Amino acid sequence: MSINGRVGIIGSPVAHSLSPKIHNAALQSLGLDISYELWETSEENLGERVEMLRASGILGANVTVPFKQKVIPLLDKIEGFAREIGAVNTIVKRNGLLIGKNTDAEGFVIPLENELNKLQLDFSQIRTLLIGAGGASRAIAFGLAKAGNQNITIVNRTLESAKELAHSLSLFSTQINVDTYATISSLEGFNCIINATSIGMAGGPNPNEQPCDLSDINSSPLIVDIVYAPKETLFLKSAQELNFPRLDGIPMLIQQAALSFELWTGEKAPLNTMRRAI
Ligand code: ATR
Repeated sequence: MSINGRVGIIGSPVAHSLSPKIHNAALQSLGLDISYELWETSEENLGERVEMLRASGILGANVTVPFKQKVIPLLDKIEGFAREIGAVNTIVKRNGLLIGKNTDAEGFVIPLENELNKLQLDFSQIRTLLIGAGGASRAIAFGLAKAGNQNITIVNRTLESAKELAHSLSLFSTQINVDTYATISSLEGFNCIINATSIGMAGGPNPNEQPCDLSDINSSPLIVDIVYAPKETLFLKSAQELNFPRLDGIPMLIQQAALSFELWTGEKAPLNTMRRAI
């Protein structure tokens, strides 16, 4: 049965977002009469934009930079760990109420679990080095802790944000350590190393840098980079040269979109179609 509806992405700037491509391809492939739109929004219009979601025919929205946190008090209910993470990336309308959720955490965990399975590991067996303590890292850290990761070291340029993140994770039994680049003594002992900073991102401030030097590691950790443009970052290229297992940022981009799609439509997301769309 076809539904007539609209969803969109709220943020600024949104013109270069890949989400319309991913979602519109998926919506069309399932024959759903729903459009995914770009909703460029200024800070002073955020409240008005959120109120517009209450109109009939609107199923929900994605929220992106710089409003993932600012949108929280404007919603009727926050579910999952979105409040603790401090970010809502998905709004879904249920019984007329605007519900805020975060699909980044699970969107990260699902592809990581697939990769760990290939290495015959589960979350309880990984010792994780999480590089970064910004918005993306917060979602990832909650996802990891909820999935059963028992040991996470958070390294960040700004130690204070790493400490804040560690503090908000205290509701889990996970052992959390914090460190800075300057003082972390060795990367030995981590079997999962995750770049959750913007280092290596095309168009970012450090496109030709790497978040850490992998060359001194004697073991073979799984190297994860959440940067998806370029797909092959310098960090992942270094990992490839060292023959380490790797996971790039595309599967997480697709999976968080798939989870949002399922919340809005109630249909299983066509992952292959979404992948092909980008
Ligand atoms: P996102 O939502 O993508 O996580 P963010 O919240 O701005 O974006 O976080 C960016 C992350 O990249 C932070 O951990 C940031 O470190 P600081 O907290 O010290 O700012 C990290 N980052 C960005 N540029 C960096 C650089 N040149 N060196 C080290 N870390 C950097």
